[in-house]
Amino acid sequence: MSSATDFIVNGTQLIKASKPDRLTILLLILVAAYYVALYFQQKARHYAPGPTPWPIIGNSIPTEKSWLFFHSLCKIYGPIVRLSLAGSEMLILDELEDIEELLGKRSSNYSSRRQLTYAGKYRSVEKRLVLLPYGPLLKKQRAAAFQMLNARVVGGYEGIQERGSIKLITDLLKQPTKAYISIKWYTAETLQTLVYAKRFSEDGNDLRTLLHILETFIQDIHPARHPVDIHPILDKLPDALASWRGEAKEKHGNEFTFYLRLLREVKQRMDNGDNLECFAARLWEDAEKNGLDETSMAYREPIPLPVPHIFEAKPKSSSSSTVAGSAFEAGTDNTAGSVLWALVAMLNYPETMKKAQVEIDRVLGRNSNMPPSFKHFEDLPYCTAFVKEVFRWSPVAPVSAPHQSLQDDVYKGYFIPAGTTVFPNIWAIHHNEKRYPDPFKFKPERFMPENGEKLTTESLNEGHCGFGFGRRVCPGQYLASKSVWMGVVSLLWGFDILPPTDASGKPVLPDPSAVRNGLTAEPDSFDIVMKPRRAIDVDALTQAWAN
Ligand code: HEM
Repeated sequence: MSSATDFIVNGTQLIKASKPDRLTILLLILVAAYYVALYFQQKARHYAPGPTPWPIIGNSIPTEKSWLFFHSLCKIYGPIVRLSLAGSEMLILDELEDIEELLGKRSSNYSSRRQLTYAGKYRSVEKRLVLLPYGPLLKKQRAAAFQMLNARVVGGYEGIQERGSIKLITDLLKQPTKAYISIKWYTAETLQTLVYAKRFSEDGNDLRTLLHILETFIQDIHPARHPVDIHPILDKLPDALASWRGEAKEKHGNEFTFYLRLLREVKQRMDNGDNLECFAARLWEDAEKNGLDETSMAYREPIPLPVPHIFEAKPKSSSSSTVAGSAFEAGTDNTAGSVLWALVAMLNYPETMKKAQVEIDRVLGRNSNMPPSFKHFEDLPYCTAFVKEVFRWSPVAPVSAPHQSLQDDVYKGYFIPAGTTVFPNIWAIHHNEKRYPDPFKFKPERFMPENGEKLTTESLNEGHCGFGFGRRVCPGQYLASKSVWMGVVSLLWGFDILPPTDASGKPVLPDPSAVRNGLTAEPDSFDIVMKPRRAIDVDALTQAWAN
């Protein structure tokens, strides 16, 4: 039998060369065995096609513009593509019929979420609606959300949305360069008023805190953002070797303290005899009936706040905070992002802006001194088509929130194992030439009703898939689309949205494909010139808002 010692007798040079040789051969055998096993497993089970995953690490998924990467794979392998992230199965769906079948018709199997260790287990103590697995807690939280956000009920919130849009206009008149923060303020304050019956303080501290929470959360939920979500075994490491755990818990502490404070303020005001009309008040009233504890309520309506110290989560009190917080969080950024995309569209397609403004002036009068309200909705079909086209042209959630399957399934002959994370590529559907001819062009006309048909506010959510699918469809969709409509028509009424010019006088236009990082897609920062279109009585508007 030859051994390392034999070679030492014959010369050190030889021993150094022979050790790596054996290792290399062993590695080659292991890699070959992996691929052979993979090949036979795939053959036997008929997985969907896709790029061959690397051993151990699997396929790599970019954290930026993942929808474009997914679509490029579908162009090579077909509309259903399989990926693997360190052993976790993933399925990319590029076509609506497959999404409707799996996430819609088979939704009892495809309505869970991939369990994220960083954002789910530690940052959200497993209570945040958007990350919950399919089960009793999800059903409770969604039922409570539905009660407060269904299409019929949101009709009662129109006054809040209209007042919010008046403030948006006055803010922009006073500070025309602050469009970004004014739009975020509009969407966040609308939600804060609905959830906690409270406006932001003038210093904007609460808003800044909320935006910070949202920004980091959107990054944290990307499945490839934190190594522990790719290799869950890392969660076995002790705290000393897993600094990310403390970081996630700290984020939870900060946001939970914020939500809880807002929730408790509402309770305090109710105890003082205030008759509050807001989600949080209803949650307190129905807490027992809904079976939600304080943590669930706090997260479910969306309001994140920065708190200077670390708050250790107490899971036993964890249900009511989440309900309140989730709506606030889930709604603010997506709604604001859609209004920002509308501005990008106005700058790149000024003829559509003009057409919408002509419609508004025809209905309200060129000299109207109050902006549009929901009573004008039916008479503004082009504006409605404009907003729907924004949802299609630049969906703020281009791959939705991925769903996860609970059981093994077979679809179109492909084996889909339990625990597969399914990415419905909303962006790809919205840019499918057959469905929407000339898909990269912003063209509201494609959504104009035929034969003078009257549109209802619910029609804002039809003809595109911007709000997701099946049993996880966005519960805030009816509120959201109306907030976007209100914000966009108010801006169109009050301002010409113009591009700045460079030194040579050429307009500087925002690039519609430039987005901020994350699983969602907000436009990258851009400059605009907001030129008032009419003489607006700011004092009268401010008075209307205050009332
Ligand atoms: C234009 C604005 C909005 C867009 C485009 C949008 C889109 C979406 C999408 C695509 C999903 C994932 C659906 C799926 O998994 O299939 C979602 C989930 C969710 N949205 Fe929205 N949303 C918006 C505004 C809102 C608002 C205003 C609220 C609350 C008031 C809200 C609350 C939620 C919640 C709680 C979830 C998680 C649902 C679950 O996991 O079961 N969203 N939204």
